[in-house]
Amino acid sequence: MTGHDGDIEKILLSAEKIQDIVRDLGEQVSKDYEGQTPLIVGVLKGAFLLMSDLAKAISIPAEFDFMAVSSYGSASKSSGVVRILKDLDLDIRDRDVILIEDIIDSGLTLKYLLRNLATRAPASLEVLTLLQKRDTQRVPLDVKYTGYEISDTFVVGYGLDYDQRYRHLPYIGTLKPGIVT
Ligand code: IMP
Ligand code: MG
Repeated sequence: MTGHDGDIEKILLSAEKIQDIVRDLGEQVSKDYEGQTPLIVGVLKGAFLLMSDLAKAISIPAEFDFMAVSSYGSASKSSGVVRILKDLDLDIRDRDVILIEDIIDSGLTLKYLLRNLATRAPASLEVLTLLQKRDTQRVPLDVKYTGYEISDTFVVGYGLDYDQRYRHLPYIGTLKPGIVT
């Protein structure tokens, strides 16, 4: 129990299922980047739990850094206008960068971040997202690793918030009607 469980309508991904997905993602990254030392960049706040579990699932040398962004818009829809609240500490020039996202909806946030990071001349730049919404992308995106596809519904938990709440739920679910305004 987390104190928020009563607001959840349906669990889409259980804590166990998430752990399986993240373990697979970590294994794929470890295989694809064998012999390299990727720089794994988490986008805060949404990716904070994913980064922790993914880090433990990666078996090759790797480095970690974080960016914090906030997108303008309502609590449940991003506008694609992104503000960088905290930039990377590390220089990514000539590094193999993997950008870690919680969820891709319209893709506008990711597009902005990729454009920003590409100007810093990394050796390579790929994207790993835990969730991707089906048929909602408004811009073409090249996502190397997708953990799980969901339909176009608003979800919370495992890092994802509604108005800053529910991030600490160990599972991902939808909210009961009347909570999302
Ligand atoms: P996009 O720019 O429309 O792709 O939205 C990306 C960002 O919006 C994510 O990083 C989340 O912070 C937020 N977001 C999109 N869909 C959801 C959702 O279903 N639940 C919680 N946050 C979401
Ligand atoms: Mg959010």
